[in-house]
Amino acid sequence: TRDAIRFWRHGRVVEVTGFHPRTTLLDYLRLNERKLGTKEGCAEGDCGACTVALGRVRGGRVRYEPVNACILLLGQVDGAELVTVEDLAVGDDLHPVQAAMVARHGSQCGFCTPGIVMSLFALYHEGGRPLDRQAANDALAGNLCRCTGYRPIVDAALDACS
Ligand code: FES
Repeated sequence: TRDAIRFWRHGRVVEVTGFHPRTTLLDYLRLNERKLGTKEGCAEGDCGACTVALGRVRGGRVRYEPVNACILLLGQVDGAELVTVEDLAVGDDLHPVQAAMVARHGSQCGFCTPGIVMSLFALYHEGGRPLDRQAANDALAGNLCRCTGYRPIVDAALDACS
C-alpha cells in the first residue's frame, strides 16, 4: 500500500499524504485547499453543486469527466488532472463556457453555477460532435438549479460547446 497520492493541478504534480481514507474530494478542496468555489449542496451526489472535472489520458488525449466531489474519495483522484472552477479563467479572460454563461445570463442565485460551469467545461473539451438541445440537457442532467433557470444555461451550453 501507499500512503501518498499524486495528481496534476495547475500544470504541476501535487502529492498529498497522511489523509484519512474517507476524506472526500470536496472536503479536501474546501478545507485543505480553501477552494470555496466548489459548493456543498446535498452532499450525496444528487445536486451537482460540487462538480469538478477529472482529466485522464484516454485514446491519446486528455478526456475530462465531470464528477461529484462530495461522493468521490480523495484517493480516487490519484493519477488524474484535477480541475476546479477557480482554474478556468486566465486573469480577466473567462473560459468560453464562463463567458457564455455571462452572455446568456445563465446564473441567478449562483449557488449551482460553479458546478454547471464544470459540467460545461467537460462538455466543451469533449468536442467533436454537433450539440443539440437534447445533448446539452443530457450533459447538464446532473446539475440542479433551484431557481430553475435552465433555458439560459442550455443556451450557454449551445453557444460555447456546439
Ligand atoms: Fe450535491 Fe455533491 S453536493 S452532488
